[in-house]
Amino acid sequence: MNTPRLIQVSHEDPAALRAEVLAGLAAEPAVLAPKFFYDGLGARLFSAITALPEYYPTRTEAAIFRDHLDAIAAAVGPAPTLVDLGAGNCEKAARLLEPLAVQRYVAVDIAAEYLLSALDRLQYEHPNRELLGIGLDFSRQLVLPDEVGPGPRLLFYPGSSIGNFDPGAALDFLRQVRAACAGGRLLIGVDLVKGVEVLEPAYDDALGVTAAFNRNLLLHLNRLIGADFALADWRHVAFYAGAASRIEMHLEAVREVTVRWPGGERRFARGERIHTENSYKWRLDDFADLLRAAGFKQPRAWRDARDWFAVFAADA
Ligand code: AVI
Repeated sequence: MNTPRLIQVSHEDPAALRAEVLAGLAAEPAVLAPKFFYDGLGARLFSAITALPEYYPTRTEAAIFRDHLDAIAAAVGPAPTLVDLGAGNCEKAARLLEPLAVQRYVAVDIAAEYLLSALDRLQYEHPNRELLGIGLDFSRQLVLPDEVGPGPRLLFYPGSSIGNFDPGAALDFLRQVRAACAGGRLLIGVDLVKGVEVLEPAYDDALGVTAAFNRNLLLHLNRLIGADFALADWRHVAFYAGAASRIEMHLEAVREVTVRWPGGERRFARGERIHTENSYKWRLDDFADLLRAAGFKQPRAWRDARDWFAVFAADA
């Protein structure tokens, strides 16, 4: 049996994170990157979101892979090296290892310790495959280490995480992805434009899990910069901004609040917001154009019966 290997490429720099938070809190309006959702509790809350009845993306994408697996495998397989961006618990890629005849599975995630336990579990089920974990914040810069090995790569970016980039940043990122899989392929999940009656509950569920996920960011900030955000002062706001084809999430002050941290403070008027996330929804043709603009060729897509979500493959 093989043993998973782990390489830590980039470490979180606490000073840089602090500077980023302070700049975001000083901005007008205040804005924080969605990566600040994902402390230990935030990662668990996101996992709970994926099980909510209202949050359709995860199960719709899984259904596309289930229903179109043969066609997808014929289009992108065999894939000797599969690189999974934002692998997390490695569950989505695990279902592809056999059908795509993957020999080396490379799981990339910012949370490297979490990767190792997922890879250990996976190795039991796939004793002869080579499993490699890479601790890397690829949202800053996607440069894969040499250990990924030679030969064509299939880059896998599921879950519509591309939707959390603004379109210009998505193009930049996809160009980097293309460079990282030159001669190989990309397999990517993309959430599609649909009715507001489906979109808004997915980001403002009846149980309040997404609200907890959003508000937990404040507890994370308290630890990161020593701030004194009080949860009772803030409410979750999520709505579909149709002109930009995106869900926006914000935290809104329910009363006038002054937040303090060592060396600074900020006053928020009642109703003032901190912008915490955009989640873009794409039209099929626009996303195919985006892939082409990033240098990919022959984009092809598989969709669910309701046209809610798409899985694209493209050649790099
Ligand atoms: C990770 N990302 C694709 C999720 C999304 O749908 O944009 C994050 C999320 N935010 C609220 N619910 C889920």
